[in-house]
Amino acid sequence: MFARELADGTVLMIEQEDHTDLAAQFAAHWGNDRFSRPEPYRSMLFGTIYHDSGHREMEADLPIDVERGVPYAIGRTPPGVRKNEADIVNAHWIRGRDPYASLVVSMHHAGLRKRRYDTVRGKTIGGPDPEPWGNLGMDDAFNDLSGWLLEVRDELDLGDRGAQEAFWHNYKLLQVFDLLSLYFCRDGSERGAQREVVLEHVPVRAGSDETVDLHLVPTGPNGLRITPYPLDVPTLPVAMMTRVMSPVLDKPEAVTKEAYYQARRQPLTCEISG
Ligand SMILES: [Fe+2]
Repeated sequence: MFARELADGTVLMIEQEDHTDLAAQFAAHWGNDRFSRPEPYRSMLFGTIYHDSGHREMEADLPIDVERGVPYAIGRTPPGVRKNEADIVNAHWIRGRDPYASLVVSMHHAGLRKRRYDTVRGKTIGGPDPEPWGNLGMDDAFNDLSGWLLEVRDELDLGDRGAQEAFWHNYKLLQVFDLLSLYFCRDGSERGAQREVVLEHVPVRAGSDETVDLHLVPTGPNGLRITPYPLDVPTLPVAMMTRVMSPVLDKPEAVTKEAYYQARRQPLTCEISG
């Protein structure tokens, strides 16, 4: 769950599977003459669509952040309330349908606790400096695999370095799709206004170490320019469902929950261009 404060005091609430659906819109259209398309395409799409479905376990309970008067959002949720074990259940569910996707999603969640293994990160122009880069990378990510994930690694023949490097490119792509969606869910706005963000160290092609910095520049209330442009269509209209909610303070939690379920749905739309 994400909670974006708007200038008028209302809060834009975004459920995790709406965030992942937006990430998947970028995954579906990623690649052109310069940027290579995700391969295996279907597995990468499947993994992107369901990469955060473990959050559903918490969202179904709809725990309330009493201080803020809305459901708990990422960054404020107490550890026990988040139910991290549901991520493992979700990864098993993905494995039943697509083992490749389950491995990339599991590595993604492990990486969230380790600065995404120092691969890709977002930097807000005019914002605070991000943490310095560390030295984590592919070997750390593969060394972190344990238990059933080692079985999946072997099933997928990811024992040798060449195969691991192709997989590593896809791990980094999932970080990019996630961060592009997070730009709209959390990182790219300040009290309702969009701001410029740079995604640093974005991979360009599988089998190459080349990376670029993607500049995300708002072109209006519903437009975003990405430079260099990584998508397969000249302009891409994207959309994500949101709920607009007024904080409910000093009332029983049940009242806040009702307000959330009753909240007006508002599609967030944007035209992505190069
Ligand atoms: Fe995500």
